[in-house]
Amino acid sequence: PEGRVKPWGTAHAVLCAKAIVGVEDFAVLLPDVLVKNQSENNDLSLMMQNFDGNKAAQIMVEAVPDHMVDQYGIVDVASIPKEGHSIEIRGIIEKPEIGTAPSNLSVVGRYILPAKIMQLLEQTPKGAGNEIQLTDAIAMLQQTDKVEAYRMQGQTFDCGSKLGYLKAVLHYGVDHPKLGEAFKELIKDLKL
Ligand code: G1P
Repeated sequence: PEGRVKPWGTAHAVLCAKAIVGVEDFAVLLPDVLVKNQSENNDLSLMMQNFDGNKAAQIMVEAVPDHMVDQYGIVDVASIPKEGHSIEIRGIIEKPEIGTAPSNLSVVGRYILPAKIMQLLEQTPKGAGNEIQLTDAIAMLQQTDKVEAYRMQGQTFDCGSKLGYLKAVLHYGVDHPKLGEAFKELIKDLKL
């Protein structure tokens, strides 16, 4: 319908929140990926601590098999950090072709970003998939400012795929404090 904003990609989605975010630093959480990490020092809070300490944008990443790098944003780093640690990135690219990716560390969909990225988002041209990519704005930011990849400790579930969604239901179900035991019985009853 007339007046409705057409979705043009992750960067455009973040820009739509500009009036609400104002001049604050902010976090972006892409909700189709669930991050399961119930420890007290969970991944997102560690990223915020890092940001508070050194003001470097934090991009959550995890290792993926080489044949899957073309489905994600991929960071370029000098070495692979340990889980729970951050390392400065040398670059970032959205959905590189297999065989050309700078690493196998993929962007998970959790970002702590400085307020100034809003101006860069406004200048970001269309990129991969003909969409305005948050990844491309981060690549621009990295030209002038320190950006770090934070390697997550938890587990991800990509609920953007039907099988990933079902896997998430299984994992969250069996670990549920109240329903977990009954849910496990239910699975046993399936007699696969
Ligand atoms: C988006 C991001 C990509 C990231 C992915 C995580 O891609 O653009 O960098 O790796 O989320 O799920 P999309 O899933 O929208 O294709």
